[in-house]
Amino acid sequence: MRMNDVLTQERPENSAAVATFPGAVHHAPSWWDLDSWRGRPVQQQPDWPDPERLAEVAEQISLLPPLVPPGEIQRLQRRLAGVAEGRAFLLQAGDCAERFDSCAEAEVRGKVRTILRMAVLMTYGSGLPTVTVGRLAGQYAKPRSSPVETVDGVELPVYRGDIVNCPEPSLPARTPAPERLMKAYHSASATLNVLHGLVRESGTELHRLHTGNEDFVRRTGGGSHAEISEDVNRALRFMSAFGVSEGAAPNELYTSHEALLLDFEQALTRYDADTGRWFDTSAHMVWAGDRTRQLDGAHVEFLSGVANPVGVKIGPSTDPEQLQELCDRLDPGYVAGRLVLISRMGAERVHDLLPPLLRAVRETEHPVVWACDPMHGNTFRSNSGYKTRRLADILAEIDGFFTVAGEEGVRPGGLHLELTGEHVTECLGGLEKVLDADLGTRYETACDPRLNAGQSVELAFRVSELLQSHLR
Ligand code: PEP
Ligand code: CO
Repeated sequence: MRMNDVLTQERPENSAAVATFPGAVHHAPSWWDLDSWRGRPVQQQPDWPDPERLAEVAEQISLLPPLVPPGEIQRLQRRLAGVAEGRAFLLQAGDCAERFDSCAEAEVRGKVRTILRMAVLMTYGSGLPTVTVGRLAGQYAKPRSSPVETVDGVELPVYRGDIVNCPEPSLPARTPAPERLMKAYHSASATLNVLHGLVRESGTELHRLHTGNEDFVRRTGGGSHAEISEDVNRALRFMSAFGVSEGAAPNELYTSHEALLLDFEQALTRYDADTGRWFDTSAHMVWAGDRTRQLDGAHVEFLSGVANPVGVKIGPSTDPEQLQELCDRLDPGYVAGRLVLISRMGAERVHDLLPPLLRAVRETEHPVVWACDPMHGNTFRSNSGYKTRRLADILAEIDGFFTVAGEEGVRPGGLHLELTGEHVTECLGGLEKVLDADLGTRYETACDPRLNAGQSVELAFRVSELLQSHLR
């Protein structure tokens, strides 16, 4: 069989057999084209004052090089197929909303090192490779609960992310500006530059990565974390005694963002002649948010035609039957690694809401990855007025996710987190005790509250323990 035959082979009769079919790549439906989403109801797009200018900028972007190559996108799909089949675990993490200046080297470095540090601990816990995917190099568009907000008595368009407008509360700053799509392209490209250098470097520096975890243990006083940390150290010494530390760290870091602003995503979607597929080259993985996952909506239509791994956020309003239809729509070929369902129910509701959805998807036999986003169902406004989340609630939702997945016989495949490598004070709690009164000290997010570096490492220690008990 020639390679091309493998890649274009349709779904065999027995769908379960397809789940492990190695060369499978998602195929667009027959009616799909780059513009077919425009015929569907589209949520969460800005009200562009100059649509012609928007079309011009999109056209310019469509002539620029891809941000990520189709070959890497397919490699991520193969890694995610491994997750779906229980041979790896997914860590997807990064900013809620990147700013254009988030491409600064120190900021990218902080996020990447935090993610890779967590991956070391999680790999230790699961005994499996950790597939690392950043909310990085393109996470510039945000869905909002209202199109306008009132500031000092003046009604303004809401901030929709740097790709659309600026957060400053004035009419000029908030007016959607098409040129920002081009800036998004260049900021993503600069971020990728930094990323490539860092991942090459970190890939050979497992010890140095783990030093950050040890520092955290020293600062916060040990306990079971000290034991894990020492175990990891022993494993690292063992590896280097055999000369195998080189290249053993997670040296692939993929990019992802919410595919919200469809004009931008379309402009970066390219036909790949080798596979006969369309790839959204704005990132390796893209996802539909909880507000844009309507079966007949524009976002699902767009995503149904690109061959990337796609995610869908699954919130409390998800209906089990509609979720089954969504799986059929986005993964008609039963391709492992194609679809990642990201549950975000909240620490309490996950116990009641997730089991019927896990059962519904299991019935369909779609080889999906189930991941847990423990952030977006646990947001509240604190007494001090800041939008925040408690680390304890975040950990409780992860615990609940592992528990219900275990009860339903479904593999918990990964985590989806909002974090930064900076010492911000946006989420409450943790061993380094961020209190309500501390939130104002370094509250810097452009959108949702993120875990800081210490809270992220603390979470990874806890997850490492959960992985040991649930996956081993
Ligand atoms: C997000 O991931 O930042 C987000 C807006 O999530 P959700 O679509 O789950 O609300
Ligand atoms: Co968010």
